[in-house]
Amino acid sequence: MNGGRLTGRVVVVTGAARGQGAAEAAALEGEGATVVATDVRGSGNVRRLDVTVAEDWAGLADELRERYGVVHGLVNNAGITWRARLDEVTTEDMSCVHAVNVHGPLLGIQHLAPLMPPGSSVVNVGSSAALTAHYPVAYTTSKWALRGLSRAAALELGPRGIRVNTIHPGFIETEMTASAAPAFREANVRETPLGRVGSVGEVAPLVVFLLSDESSFITGAEIPVDGGLTSHGGVKSVSDALLDVDGGRSAVPPGRPPT
Ligand code: NAI
Repeated sequence: MNGGRLTGRVVVVTGAARGQGAAEAAALEGEGATVVATDVRGSGNVRRLDVTVAEDWAGLADELRERYGVVHGLVNNAGITWRARLDEVTTEDMSCVHAVNVHGPLLGIQHLAPLMPPGSSVVNVGSSAALTAHYPVAYTTSKWALRGLSRAAALELGPRGIRVNTIHPGFIETEMTASAAPAFREANVRETPLGRVGSVGEVAPLVVFLLSDESSFITGAEIPVDGGLTSHGGVKSVSDALLDVDGGRSAVPPGRPPT
């Protein structure tokens, strides 16, 4: 389907070989964009690009300059996780995860922003981990760092008419989450007000919106797409515990408010 909201736009998506990146690339194409899908695992229509390698970005920028002259959008979607806790995470783990999740988006912005005309848009893919004390230290710190990068980039690029926003997916069914223990999925569902996990098809439309002119006055924003996971600050289990006790009424009757 061609909805036409992005007709004539050239958009680069990283980590587009599978998962959310593949769904985003398809949705953007469906809106008429010329999508340059990239991944460290290049194959078929997916161009090989390792987001951690500056030369890869420089090569892509040269190609895009020659072929299109401009780039209107960048989706910094590529990301990796590493589920080591505080007592076991190493500085090597930190460097490796930050190289992909933070340095990757930085390099992407540095190399492609010079090709972006006013009205262009960058979307950084954060995580609910970036809003919480999620236990995998390297991953969580990298996504918090990405928030800082996004805000600084929004400030820096705003005067040129380039917008930079961050989305924070909750538990989305992809190969990344398939590699987690079943208990991880169950706990996420328990903490999610909508009571289920999300799908890649529920993230991609937000990316389309943020790349389109419909979001022309939105920049420096952070938008969770998480079924409410991060909205309750951890008190869902408190609410649920009381439901278990008295079937929905407060365990201690609230009485009447003071008049
Ligand atoms: P995924 O593991 O299914 O896909 C990630 C893609 O990134 C893969 O195709 C992989 O080859 C690529 N990639 C990894 N390292 C790369 C590199 N150095 N250069 C280029 N590409 C590279 O993961 P998923 O779930 O689709 O994740 C996409 C983004 O969403 C990531 O940034 C992830 O941190 C984030 N996210 C995912 C959540 C989930 O529940 N699945 C939740 C919150 C955030």
